[in-house]
Amino acid sequence: MNNRSSFSGKLGFVLAAAGSAVGLGNIWRFPYLAAQYGGGTFLLVYLIMAVTFGFSLMIAEVAIGRKTGLSAIGAFKSLDSRFGFLGVLAALVPIIIFPYYSVIGGWVIKYFFVFLSGGASAAAGDDYFTGFVGGTFEPLGWFLIFLGVTAVIVLLGVEKGIEKVSKFMMPILVLLAIGISIYCLTLNGAMDGLAYYVKPQMADVSVKTILAAMGQLFYSMSLAMGIMVTYGSYMRKDTNLESSVRQIEIFDTAIAFLAGLMVIPAVFVFSGGDPKILQSGPSLMFVILPKVFDSMQFGNAVGAAFFLLVIFAALTSSISLMETIVSIIVDKAKIGRKPAAILVTIGVLLLGMLSCLGYGPLAAIAPLGMAFLDFFDFISNSIMMPIVAFLTCILVGHIVGPKMVIDEVETSGTFRRKKLFVVMVRWIAPVMLLMILATEILKFFGVITV
Ligand code: PHE
Repeated sequence: MNNRSSFSGKLGFVLAAAGSAVGLGNIWRFPYLAAQYGGGTFLLVYLIMAVTFGFSLMIAEVAIGRKTGLSAIGAFKSLDSRFGFLGVLAALVPIIIFPYYSVIGGWVIKYFFVFLSGGASAAAGDDYFTGFVGGTFEPLGWFLIFLGVTAVIVLLGVEKGIEKVSKFMMPILVLLAIGISIYCLTLNGAMDGLAYYVKPQMADVSVKTILAAMGQLFYSMSLAMGIMVTYGSYMRKDTNLESSVRQIEIFDTAIAFLAGLMVIPAVFVFSGGDPKILQSGPSLMFVILPKVFDSMQFGNAVGAAFFLLVIFAALTSSISLMETIVSIIVDKAKIGRKPAAILVTIGVLLLGMLSCLGYGPLAAIAPLGMAFLDFFDFISNSIMMPIVAFLTCILVGHIVGPKMVIDEVETSGTFRRKKLFVVMVRWIAPVMLLMILATEILKFFGVITV
C-alpha cells in the first residue's frame, strides 16, 4: 500500500481520470441516446442526474479508493468482508464493455481513413454505413487494428506517451467540435433540431428515459465498474477530492453536450428530423456526420481531423479499460503483466468478434432481440452497472456509513455538498435504482411493458 505510485497533484489526477472518462461514450453514445429519448427530455434528465447522482457516486468511488489504497476487488472487501463479490461484479463490467468498445473504435479508424483518402461524398451516401457494418472482413479488420493498437500500448507500457499526446488533442477536439456545431447551426432546418435537443417535453419522461440516462451516466463517467476506485487509490491525500470530481464531471458533460450539438441538429438539416434516423441508435454518428462534412468546404480534411481526434479520445479510454482487466488478472491469476495482456487480447478478440459480425453474418442470432453489440451494451449499462451502483450505495450509505467517505473528502478540503451526498447515497439513489431494476426485471419477464 505504501509503495503505490501516485499522481502528481490535482492536475495529474484530473487529467488521467478525464482521459478515461472522455471517449466514445461522450461522442458516439450520448448523441444517439439523446436523439432516441426525446432530445431535450433526455438532456435534462441526464444533467439532473449528473450533478446529483453521478457526483455522489464518483465521490464515493474515488474516496473508497483513496482511503483503502486498493483497487475495486480488494477495496470493497476491506470495507466489509461480505462485499468482496461487489468488486468482482464491478470488474466484470469492463470485461463486457471493452470488446464492443474496440469494435466501435475500429469504425472510427475506418472513417478516419475514408476521409483521409477523400471519400467524404461516398461516406455521406445513405447506405454506406449499413453496407460497411454488414460486411465480414472489413469490420473485423478495423476492429483488430483498434484492439491491436490498444494492446501494444498496454503491453509496451507506453500509456504515458499517449496521455501526453492526448493532452494536446483534447483541447483541439473541443475547438473543432465547437466549430462543427456552429457550422451545423447555420444550416437550413437546424433550429428545429436545436429546439428538439434543448427543449424538454416533460410528458416524454419515462422509466426508460431515466434508465437510459443513468446507464449513460455510468458509462460516460467510467462509474459503477471499479475504475474510479482504482484511480482514487493513486490519488494523493492532499489533492482536493471534491473539486477534482467536479472538474471531471463538468469536462465530461460539456464534451457530451457538444457532441449532441454536432449531431442532432444535423439530423434535422439532412434528414428533416426523420424519426427513423433519430431512432437509429449506434449508427447515428456514422450516418450523420459524413453528411455534415460532405456539405462543407474542405470536408475531407475536417472529417479526417475530427475522426483522428476521436481515435485519441477513444484510445485513452480503451487503455484504461484494458489496464483494469489486465491488473485484475495479474492480481487474481498471479501471472505476469505480459501473459495477462496477451490473454486479455485473445479473450477480447473472441468476444469482440460477436459484436463485430452481429450486424452482418451473425445478424440472425439476436439475443433478447438485439444485435450482439447492442446486447452487450444493454447487459452492462442497463443491468450490471445499476446493480453495482445500488450495492455501492448500500455499502457506503448503510453498512460502512457515509462518514467514511466524508472524512476522506475532508482530509483534503471542505466538503461543500456534503448534505446532498448523504441524502443521495443513503436514500434517493438506492430507491431509484431499486425501482429501475424492478421495472427491468418485470419487463424482462413480460409482466409489464414500458
Ligand atoms: N467513459 C468512457 C467513455 O465515455 C468509456 C469507459 C468506460 C472507459 C469504462 C473506461 C472504463 O467512452
